[in-house]
Amino acid sequence: MFYDPRIDPRPAPLQFNPVNALVAPRPIGWIGTLSAAGETNLAPFSYFNAFSADPPVVGFAPNAKVAPDQAKDTLANVREVAEFTVSVVSAELAQAMNETSRPVPRGVDEFALAGLTAAPSRHVRPPHVGEAKAVLECTVAQVIALPSRPGGRASHLVIGEVVGIHIDESVIREGRVDLRLLRPVSRLGYLDYSIVDSLFEMPRPDGDGG
Ligand SMILES: Cc1cc2nc3c(=O)[nH]c(=O)nc-3n(C[C@H](O)[C@H](O)[C@H](O)COP(=O)(O)O)c2cc1C
Repeated sequence: MFYDPRIDPRPAPLQFNPVNALVAPRPIGWIGTLSAAGETNLAPFSYFNAFSADPPVVGFAPNAKVAPDQAKDTLANVREVAEFTVSVVSAELAQAMNETSRPVPRGVDEFALAGLTAAPSRHVRPPHVGEAKAVLECTVAQVIALPSRPGGRASHLVIGEVVGIHIDESVIREGRVDLRLLRPVSRLGYLDYSIVDSLFEMPRPDGDGG
């Protein structure tokens, strides 16, 4: 079949939007931010990834709240305090991560809501999840408006440079982060998730060590 996402209604046999299932697995950026008034915020974003390694650059894409063009708290916050943290969601934190996705009013602290520790960061003002085994501290480099449809919800891409990295040494083996120990949760299509628990190695033809 062929599907043009600009055309409604979605053709049979598709009952749901397939895009999330086709660009999967997606890592989850668990984004900690701070408002100008000093309110902390935490929310998961699976439109999240790394885009460059040196310097490390990551990005995530908040869409608008259901009311058109009303920014999610995370976007409103990075516009006021241009810094954020990315806490890695290990398997044991999956439920807490989901809890922090509740659409609560701005100013409600999702760290507290989910019973998580808002641990102080070193190079940025927003806190991170103290229970996370790995965390990136980021400064905002750019906020880009993404294409939107007439009457549709506005989405933005927030790009950040990583200026600090926390790693719990329990997940480091022989100088490498062992993903079988970190066990990051990734988002698939629909309401499905996956945990990294098996790996295979494939040397590069050019001998690059990766
Ligand atoms: C696993 C997961 C991934 C999500 N990914 C995104 C995303 O990429 N973009 C987005 O706008 N919302 C995403 N959401 C929904 C937001 O987390 C949710 O709207 C949240 O309330 C936003 O919080 P804020 O208003 O405090 O920023 C995701 C939710 C979950 C559970």
